[in-house]
Amino acid sequence: MSRLSIHPEGRTNATSPAEPLLESDDPAVIKAELAKRGIEFQRWPAKVKLHQNPSESDILAAYAVEIARVQADGRYPTVDAIRITPDHPDREALRQKFLAEHTHAEDEVRFFVEGRGLFCLHIGAEVLQVLCEQNDCINVPAKTRHWFDMGSKPQFCAVRFFDNPEGWIASFTGDVIAERFAKLP
Ligand SMILES: [Fe+2]
Repeated sequence: MSRLSIHPEGRTNATSPAEPLLESDDPAVIKAELAKRGIEFQRWPAKVKLHQNPSESDILAAYAVEIARVQADGRYPTVDAIRITPDHPDREALRQKFLAEHTHAEDEVRFFVEGRGLFCLHIGAEVLQVLCEQNDCINVPAKTRHWFDMGSKPQFCAVRFFDNPEGWIASFTGDVIAERFAKLP
């Protein structure tokens, strides 16, 4: 089940994590709290059951309707699909790559069609941890500080939207804040 927890960024008391300011698994609350902070969050039924080892083109074809909806306004002409399974040979390197706080010059738009992943958004003096699961579509605006944890046994498939043909380009902030926050098991 999708879940949101909101925490103080914890600069002054790094050794004892503060209680969350809010925790919810109610999709309406998650959507409203994220919207207050400029983050778009939607739930779309992932009605297509992918077969065991779908190719990227299988995934994109299966979700053609949802992809067309996201691309309708022309902001995200590039789309791909990423699928990571617990036996992926590069899972630990991939996990580490996304775990350090970074920003992008473009919006980060992800539609989860299988599994789950933890988005952590550092906005002002708060950290919002958003556990995204199948059916969730999240749009993290450009320049938002964030990191992403796929966990030690990653299992997810996400359709990714980009405004440029180069795809994923990150600028790392050098802040070690991610180390203070809970990760996926
Ligand atoms: Fe990112």
